[in-house]
Amino acid sequence: MNLCVLGAQWGDEGKGKIVDLLTPRFTIVARYQGGHNAGHTVYVGGRKFVLHLIPSGILHDGIVCVIGNGVVVDPHALFAEMDELHALGIDTRGRLLVSDRAHLILPYHRELDILAEARRGERKIGTTSRGIGPAYEDKIGRRGIRVGDLADTSDEGPLAHAVRENVAARNRLVGNTDLHADELLADLRGLWPRLQPLVADVSVCLHRAVSAGQRVLFEGAQGTLLDIDHGTYPFVTSSNATAGGAATGLGIGPRTIGAVLGVAKAYTTRVGEGPLPTELTGALGDRLRETGQEFGASTGRPRRCGWYDAVAVRYAARVNGLDALALTKLDVLDGLPELQVCTAYRCRGAVVTEMPGDTAQFAECEPVYETLPGWRQPTRGITAFGDLPREAQAYIARLEAASGVPAAVVSTGSERDHTIIKDARLLG
Ligand code: IMP
Repeated sequence: MNLCVLGAQWGDEGKGKIVDLLTPRFTIVARYQGGHNAGHTVYVGGRKFVLHLIPSGILHDGIVCVIGNGVVVDPHALFAEMDELHALGIDTRGRLLVSDRAHLILPYHRELDILAEARRGERKIGTTSRGIGPAYEDKIGRRGIRVGDLADTSDEGPLAHAVRENVAARNRLVGNTDLHADELLADLRGLWPRLQPLVADVSVCLHRAVSAGQRVLFEGAQGTLLDIDHGTYPFVTSSNATAGGAATGLGIGPRTIGAVLGVAKAYTTRVGEGPLPTELTGALGDRLRETGQEFGASTGRPRRCGWYDAVAVRYAARVNGLDALALTKLDVLDGLPELQVCTAYRCRGAVVTEMPGDTAQFAECEPVYETLPGWRQPTRGITAFGDLPREAQAYIARLEAASGVPAAVVSTGSERDHTIIKDARLLG
């Protein structure tokens, strides 16, 4: 069965580890949205790998990794990541494909991202400054430049025309400096020889692979609550991180997705602006941040930390059709005397069990907590559910019930083998 693995919270749930762990069950790992705003951290044999654009499956020999049409690609970032992997002894040659239909992130997208954030002032989104939003704006505005467009070498062809138009628009928006279209065009032409061997019609490749009985893991980036349609708009990223994004972002039919696995931390984090009802701002928040090493893998920013929000995960279960959860970072909670789980919100005089669509109303929501006992014994590295302290088992059972989804995997540490496979049947 083909499996979609995605974030069930606000990103940074530990998808990289889960994808890396499950990869041996698949032939292909295909990323469907986002760009190098993502930071998927994987520890193997004590070595740390941070992947931004390339699917986390790349660390396994022989696995084919695909970057879909729904991803926005900064070619310089892609090449830097390939070089980094190469330096670490990981050969990507012949097993990394990039969709000819993926849109490019160009240098002016980064500038426009930073400029837009500065203009928003206090209402800023807290983006990663990678140019993600402006690149998707150009895509939806039907003026974007796609990977396959770089094949056009003519001075008066569609590529040269699009670059000149987009650069002129950028020069009207950005004061003081002029970007030269011809310099950008020369840079893009210089990229093509290295990019060309990777370029493929990803939809055709996946269709053939699936028809031949190969199994595909669809890898999401960011998380459900950062989805452009289903997240806490406008404090979201600019793509569909939810399960539907896998179909549009790779050119596959929705029924190709056999099961959906939502990755959720045993608590909650968020980086960037926007409401977070269970946020802990005091010493407990600091404790979670320090113990969980909650600093952005892409930007190094400290993450906001809080208790597990079962309302948010229940919402993720609904909009993604989650079959199972992978609960990560359980060990970070070791030693806390008691734990809180948010099961509803108190909002404008009423108790609500669904996330409101209106962000201003969501920002006013106060968590309704249930208190559970903590555990003293360390859980780090435990690989059998029965070996967990009784209170940790009860905590997981409560998260499953409150979220309405069973846990297939529980992660008890950063290494591949710090993992409990609680129910392998749920993984297809
Ligand atoms: P952008 O994707 O750079 O436009 O940022 C939009 C929002 O998504 C900001 O709040 C970012 O912090 C957040 N974001 C983007 N990528 C990630 C990620 O990989 N993990 C967590 N948050 C992210």
